[in-house]
Amino acid sequence: MPEPSGYCNSKKTDDVCDEACGDRSSRKGGMNMTRRLRCVLGGFDLRAILLLFVLVPTCIFVIHLHGHKVTFFLRPLWQKPPKPFNQIPHYHHPNASMAELCKLHGWGVRETPRRVFDAVLFNNELDILAIRWNELLPYVSEFVLLESNSTFTGIKKPLFFAQNRGRFQFVGPRLTYGTVAGRFVKGENPFVEESYQRVALDHLIKIAGIADDDLLIMSDADEIPSGHTINLLRWCDEIPEKLHLQLRNYLYSFEFFLDMESWRASVHRYRSGETRYVHFRQSDELLADAGWHCSFCFRRISEFVFKMKAYSHVDRVKFSYYLDPGRIQRIICQGLDLFDMFPEEYTFREIISKLGPIPRSFSAVHLPGYLIQNVDKFRYLLPGNCQREEG
Ligand SMILES: *[C@@H]1O[C@H](CO)[C@@H](O)[C@H](O)[C@H]1NC(C)=O
Ligand SMILES: *[C@@H]1O[C@H](CO)[C@@H](O)[C@H](O)[C@H]1NC(C)=O
Repeated sequence: MPEPSGYCNSKKTDDVCDEACGDRSSRKGGMNMTRRLRCVLGGFDLRAILLLFVLVPTCIFVIHLHGHKVTFFLRPLWQKPPKPFNQIPHYHHPNASMAELCKLHGWGVRETPRRVFDAVLFNNELDILAIRWNELLPYVSEFVLLESNSTFTGIKKPLFFAQNRGRFQFVGPRLTYGTVAGRFVKGENPFVEESYQRVALDHLIKIAGIADDDLLIMSDADEIPSGHTINLLRWCDEIPEKLHLQLRNYLYSFEFFLDMESWRASVHRYRSGETRYVHFRQSDELLADAGWHCSFCFRRISEFVFKMKAYSHVDRVKFSYYLDPGRIQRIICQGLDLFDMFPEEYTFREIISKLGPIPRSFSAVHLPGYLIQNVDKFRYLLPGNCQREEG
């Protein structure tokens, strides 16, 4: 039976070579074994040459441009997941008494609450700061805020808080504010400037009058503990000395709920001479569902550009078109990644399950109270409002 013309499958490569060579040799007559062999080898050579001169340079070029992506995708091969946290179940109901709530967590209730200090290193998140401070206002004794005229990456920045201090009159005298001069060292690792600013914040916390066993919240401005969580921790005895908070992770707004993997925020029972203000893992204890982390939740496109440049991982801005306002707006509305990165996960299964856009959420339930009481002011943070202000 004759094969249909053009029919081909992978098992037939040798025959295809035969035919191609056969055609050429048919003009000269029959084909012997040596020729046949040379034909097959020739085929290999051609493939080897193709590989060497086309595929390898292409691969090197692609890895050069997208190396950050390749390494992220292969992360499960070179990095083991960190030790899992000991997750503490979190109970809350507005009607439950504090004695009942503390008991549910295995803790006793105190006669009087601890004092609470909330300390942040401020960059430019003005709206998020207003939402944070209103959420925590009933429970915090002293707000501590430090800002610098340098970003972590050594870019000069205005003192945004100082310029907008009028918006934050509502905390009254409960604010200890400080500034620290940038060092502006060229070509330095951003983590050096960051730790320098955190040490300055340690001093400011002392100036604010913190004492042993007061609670200290260590978190970025956009990592917002829920008010009832802080109330629970200030009223209950025997809570862990260092407790991480699991926060709901959002990107761009509360429309894009990512996961529950935010854990960097922590609450400490202060120990003078020991407690240091840091942003990495300090204990194995993690209190479940204790607030919100809203990354890149900005009103204006220019703020996205600024943050992308000021970010500690500034190496992620691989191409200048990443900072194009049109592109940024499109990416926000699609729930995609601004840096075109793979998800930061430790197993292939998790990476693959998180590829592509973040699904839209239509829930505005269990969000910070001040946000829901002022939807007209903060509409861009709510589902269905991905359009940002230009400029
Ligand atoms: C909460 O307490 C109030 C007053 O004590 C009561 O009227 C209400 O039914 C309670 N709600 C729930 C859900 O238990
Ligand atoms: C940053 O602030 C310090 C102190 O406030 C000041 O001396 C310095 O000139 C500032 N640097 C820039 C680049 O504005």
